[in-house]
Formats: sequence, C-alpha cells, structure tokens
Amino acid sequence: MTIASVLISKLPSVGTTIFTKMSALAAEKGAINLSQGFPDFPPDSRLLERASQAILTGNNQYSPMTGLPMLREAIARLIEGHYGRKVNSNDDITVTSGASEAIFDAIAALVHDGDEVILFDPAYDLYEPAVTLAGGVCRRVILKAPDFRPDWQAFSELLTDKTRLVIINTPHNPTGSCWLEEDLESLWQAIAQRDIYVLSDEVYEFIHFGKSAVSVHQHPELIKRSLVVSSFGKSFHLTGWKVGYIVAPKALTVELRKVHQFVSFCTATPLQQALAEHLIAEPEASAGLSGFYQQKRDVLRNALADSRFTLLPCTGTYFQLLDYSEISDLDDVAFCEWLIDQVGVAAIPVSVFYQQPPTNQRLIRLCFAKEESTLLDAAQRLARL
Ligand SMILES: Cc1ncc(COP(=O)(O)O)c(C=O)c1O
Repeated sequence: MTIASVLISKLPSVGTTIFTKMSALAAEKGAINLSQGFPDFPPDSRLLERASQAILTGNNQYSPMTGLPMLREAIARLIEGHYGRKVNSNDDITVTSGASEAIFDAIAALVHDGDEVILFDPAYDLYEPAVTLAGGVCRRVILKAPDFRPDWQAFSELLTDKTRLVIINTPHNPTGSCWLEEDLESLWQAIAQRDIYVLSDEVYEFIHFGKSAVSVHQHPELIKRSLVVSSFGKSFHLTGWKVGYIVAPKALTVELRKVHQFVSFCTATPLQQALAEHLIAEPEASAGLSGFYQQKRDVLRNALADSRFTLLPCTGTYFQLLDYSEISDLDDVAFCEWLIDQVGVAAIPVSVFYQQPPTNQRLIRLCFAKEESTLLDAAQRLARL
C-alpha cells in the first residue's frame, strides 16, 4: 500500500488554477501578462509608509479575532459614506484574510451536507470547491454574452427546498458586467418566501463605469439575509496583502466567526493598522478608483478598436472580454497558449469559469490593471492579428 493508492481526493477535479498556469507560461516565454488580475503599478506610498511604521512600532501580535476595532469602525464609516447604510462595527463586520477567506468561511458556516447552492456561470473559481468541501451541491444559471444579465426565469426554476445559498458577484469577474437594481429586486422576489441566504461578492464595488454599481447593501430586504464581501486588495491595489472583510447580520456573523476563528483567527495586524489609519486619513481614497480604471479601460479599448477582436461591453471591474472568432477556430485554452507563444501576450480563457461552457464561444479575458505602456504594448501586438 502506498499513501497515494489509498488517498481519496475531496476535490478530484481541481488542479492548478489557470491563473497560475498562464502566469507561469507568460514568465517562461517573456510574454506581457494580462492574465492574472493584479496591478503592475505600486499602491499609494502613504499606505506603504503606514504599514512600515505599524511593523516598526510594534503592532506585530494577534489582533482581536474579529479584526482591529479601529479598522472595523473605519469600514463602517466607509459603508455609511458610500451606501448610506449604518452597520454595527462590533456585530456585523469581520476582517478576514482576503475576500477568499470570507467567502470560504461563509460557505463553510452556512452550507450543510446535501444543500444546494446556486451559482451564476461564468463564476469565480473559488465558489464551487468551497461548496463541495462543505458537502453542498452547485446548481448553475448560465449568463449569456454579450451582456451576461441573469435569466430570472431560469433561476426560479432551479429553486428547491434544498436551496440554501445563492452566490452573486457584481461587478462581475470575468465578464466586466454589472447587475442593475432590477436584478437585485428580481432576486429578492424569487427568494423572499424561502429560507435562502445570499453571499454577495462585491470585491470590485468601487470599479464601475457610467452608472453607479448596485450593491446588496442598498437593498433593504436582501441585506437582512445577505453576507457582503469586500477586498482591500482590489480597492487599494494590494492584492498580496490579502485583507478583506465581510458584512452580515449578527446571527449570520456569529456563525461565520466560528469558522473564521479556526481558519485564520485573525489577519496580519500591522496591515490592518495601516489600512485603518489610511481610511481615517484619506476617507475619499476609493472615490477616484472608477475614474482611474475607466481611463485604463479606454486606453485598451481604443488601441484595439480597429483590430479583428470584438470588444464586449465592460461596465465594471478591471477585466475586458475579447471575442476572437474572426481570428481563430481554436478553443479558448489553445488560443491563449498560442497567444503567449506566438504573440507574446497572456490572457485567460473564459471557458474555465464555466462548469459547461457554451459551445463555440470564443472569449478571452484581459486584465487592464496595468501601466498604460504595458496596455499599449500588448494591444499593439494583438492588433496585428
Ligand atoms: C470575484 C472575486 N472574488 C474574490 C476574489 C478574492 O479576493 P482576495 O484576493 O481579496 O482574496 C477575487 C480575486 O481575484 C475575485 O475576482
């Protein structure tokens, strides 16, 4: 008997993520990496200075399990300023090690064996493994190109007595689409008479173009049974800090914290300290984020406007989808490998975000959280195709 022969994987279909694979391939081939979603420019230097000071002045031990009170209070003010909603910083807010931990904790706390969880495909890749580990089963509503709006009839048909949780994500990764107020209302109408919770992944809440993004924070009914997830990684260009938070009614927060205290107990104290001080000193820090990214989106879109790619609408996030049907018949994974090898640009194939990708859909995702020169260089290569 070998260890491998008796090992039964709890996640047999999970391998290395496409993000790791494409980033590694991009590094190996020296390609411009527009695949993984992280900025190639530095965060605000004042925030970095605050983090250095927090470390040097001794904020290096465990914080309270729920997060530094000063940070939770600053988050409560941010939510009130942005959404006009008052939340209790002691009972409703928990600081986590990135949005990822918050999502994982919420699913582990709420999903029981055999419960059904509704996802909207394409979906961020963390949701399904977390549901599977909790013993739940995912059911999926397909979002269709080009606008990726939910089909509420299809959603209602999936609801059963076993449905326990719906996971939503707006602004949406990977499609760059945003829900409208009427979508939140349709969701509420569909679940109002059932015992269903909502996990709302809003990590791109401050990155939206044109109309303001809708948030579950603003829906007076949904919010009573929702957990809303945010990420400082996205809002302050600090993906490597992995500091996020989750806001939920007290009863849900109590259960969520039971998981959080054993998964991580707390998040890096000096980083929490730095973020709290920054939010206090620069209360408008996230206000300029949409304009900042809209400019990058437009640089990329303008540079590709005359190319043979079709640009799908992008109303939020820092992701732009491109349809390459006019250029190649390859499937999207093969096309992305070819792009790295032959064109020197790394992208993400959109099919990996689906359980069952639509046939003949030829879409790739580019991340435009990059310096303008990087975007122009990549677009120039792509426009030659
Ligand atoms: C939709 C979505 N949710 C959650 C996360 C995870 O955020 P964090 O890095 O704060 O864990 C990401 C990161 O890419 C994301 O795109």
